[in-house]
Amino acid sequence: MDRVIIFDTTLRDGEQAAGGTLNIQEKLEIARQLERLGVDVIEAGFPISSPGDFTAVEAIAKEVRTPVICGLARAHPDDIDRAWEAVKGAEHPRIHVFLSSSDIHLVYQLKKSRQEILEMARSMVARARKYLDDVEFSPMDASRTEPEYIYQILEATIAAGATTVNIPDTVGYATPEEFGGLIEGIFKNVPNIGQAVVSVHCHNDLGLAVANSLEALRRGARQVECTINGIGERAGNASLEEIVMAIKTRQNFYDLTTGVDSTQIYKTSRLVSELTGFAVQPNKAIVGANAFRHESGIHQDGVIKMPITFEIMEPKTVGIPASKLVLGKLSGRHAFRERLAELGYTLSEENFSRAFAAFKDLADKKKDVTDKDIESLVAEEKRTVAETYHLDRLQVTCGSGIPTASVVLTDRDGNSQADTALGTGPVDAVYKAINKIVQVPNALTEFTVKSVTEGIDAIGEVLVRIENEGITYTGRGADTDIIIASAKAYMNALNRLLAAKKTG
Ligand code: KIV
Ligand code: ZN
Repeated sequence: MDRVIIFDTTLRDGEQAAGGTLNIQEKLEIARQLERLGVDVIEAGFPISSPGDFTAVEAIAKEVRTPVICGLARAHPDDIDRAWEAVKGAEHPRIHVFLSSSDIHLVYQLKKSRQEILEMARSMVARARKYLDDVEFSPMDASRTEPEYIYQILEATIAAGATTVNIPDTVGYATPEEFGGLIEGIFKNVPNIGQAVVSVHCHNDLGLAVANSLEALRRGARQVECTINGIGERAGNASLEEIVMAIKTRQNFYDLTTGVDSTQIYKTSRLVSELTGFAVQPNKAIVGANAFRHESGIHQDGVIKMPITFEIMEPKTVGIPASKLVLGKLSGRHAFRERLAELGYTLSEENFSRAFAAFKDLADKKKDVTDKDIESLVAEEKRTVAETYHLDRLQVTCGSGIPTASVVLTDRDGNSQADTALGTGPVDAVYKAINKIVQVPNALTEFTVKSVTEGIDAIGEVLVRIENEGITYTGRGADTDIIIASAKAYMNALNRLLAAKKTG
């Protein structure tokens, strides 16, 4: 059985999704989890694109030792040199060079001839090969490129030293039959194709990214580029969990295998959703809240009698926690630690103590603390960003009169500042009072409230996105009081904005 190389690009193409900016700590945290998940390659970022991206790739390269750590580069000398600087500390470094190949891109965007593009691709792969042995080349917009020209570029770049050639369906235009045909054509028409791994990278504009990737694997591709929860540019990329579980569940059909530990999938999905602020739709295959829920009586009856009647995968194969054990205010540190371990979390002593204090606080307000509540508490710990301002106190009056909010914030030196504002509603009043103290111009572009569990005493989770100078910052907050959750989420986003401004 052939092994498929799983190339995860959550931290590069995934982070390109509008509004999905992650800071360095968050990227490192996701990279560590991707290593536990068992992916073969982590595309950690695009080092020349910003100092923050460079630092994140460099930090991941230094710390995450098992997978290949890859940095993206355009076919420009400066990009390649910068990518090498970022990945050179990795145990297994890779540089991924890309350059458009379709006439549409050559004529309208790059204004270059096919011959010029071929030469740029060849010489930049050769440049990267001077630094390291593992070089990937992608002809961007390959699926809209004349196949004969793709064959020529691939032959030239493999001759120049590319060890992986990646075929992107950049705009998600291909259908499975066409895309599979392109891959088959590459195997037949590129004389030196045996010297490189053939990879695919599919976007989901027509909802075909996973189908196209799987068809390409059937026709001989052996690396697949994908992201957790399918996040990515526009409609996203092929979803890692769907590809891995299709290969695993339909092994009788594909006759392929991967190195992924599928029991880590659910946890990875939750982490990426928490840190990017992109909710997973309930009906999302594999990781959606309803993916293993049976509503119809006939289905429930069947599953109780024998799960295989309506379940093609067991929830535990993807790491969905089976235990429904409920903790309450009498539960101690030991029970809480055990539950965290069962849910797959290992926290430092400091984070554990804070999460335990938050759990006790919650158990005082809420009779039963469920797994989802605990996941929310742990997520709250992970959201921690170096705080320029901390929300100390909050008082709101609302009802039929004019809503009023008073807030007290403390800065890093321990100085407290208080202010008051009126608003159209309690959240508006709170945000205006905070703005009077923090004074960073921003536009609120998204505000979402959801309850973590059922019931009147449920934790409310608030997500906000704010925009400053064209960059979006996401903030999240959770509390049994949704006004406090809203204030925490706004403070979280503002602190991210302030931290980003400080690091440039
Ligand atoms: O979609 C695309 O073509 C890409 C390339 C950089 C591989 O993301
Ligand atoms: Zn892409």
